[in-house]
Amino acid sequence: MIDLHSHILPGIDDGAKTLEDAVALAMHSHECGVTHMVCTPHIHQGVFDNNITSISTAFNQLLIALKEQNIPLKLAFSCEVRVTPDILTWVASNSLPFLGEWEGKKVLLLELPHSHIPPGIENLVRWLLKNNIQPVIPHPERNRDIIADYNRILFLKRIGCLFQVTAGAFIGRFNEQIQSLAEQLLAEDLVSYVASDMHSINRRPNDMQACKEAITQLSNTDTANKLVFDVPSVITQNLVWQ
Ligand SMILES: [Fe+2]
Repeated sequence: MIDLHSHILPGIDDGAKTLEDAVALAMHSHECGVTHMVCTPHIHQGVFDNNITSISTAFNQLLIALKEQNIPLKLAFSCEVRVTPDILTWVASNSLPFLGEWEGKKVLLLELPHSHIPPGIENLVRWLLKNNIQPVIPHPERNRDIIADYNRILFLKRIGCLFQVTAGAFIGRFNEQIQSLAEQLLAEDLVSYVASDMHSINRRPNDMQACKEAITQLSNTDTANKLVFDVPSVITQNLVWQ
């Protein structure tokens, strides 16, 4: 499986705290059947002020540790960027590490606040698309506006967003309402792919394998493979794995 969303890089967001935690998460993911993982730390102004320098420094530390310990998990890095007007500047200065490519566009993991969909989001999404960037919205199943009104995700779909549902949502990691919304998104073919959004072994482990089994039950093997492997594989085909 190819996991396109993880907070495994040590000490730069609310995921792995130490290099030791990060190595344990890598081993755990490998044991769960993940072969390739994109590290996607938060870039969230005033909360996690990451940039390519902080991300690549932590990434290189983890790479060295995995090589020393012979953990055969292939890694690449990108980010999960919280909606802010500064995205326009960051795109212009080419300072956001993209997730890969989809249908000729660079892919950006664009995080909405959990509490709501920001007014004017359509302007940002249209601007990104016009600049050859495909926004993927992570965990729409946990956004309170979408939970309250299903039409809100149809609006985001209409303006051109893709959606990544969290693996754990399908196995009850959050709550029943979030699980049934994830299942509805799957049934209505709104899930572009699934990813772990792994943060820690105890609180938010890698649920990709359990999710794959759940989707196989809910739908079928082909759909499960498409969401944990085929689509992530296309998105990352030009990324350099290390
Ligand atoms: Fe995340």
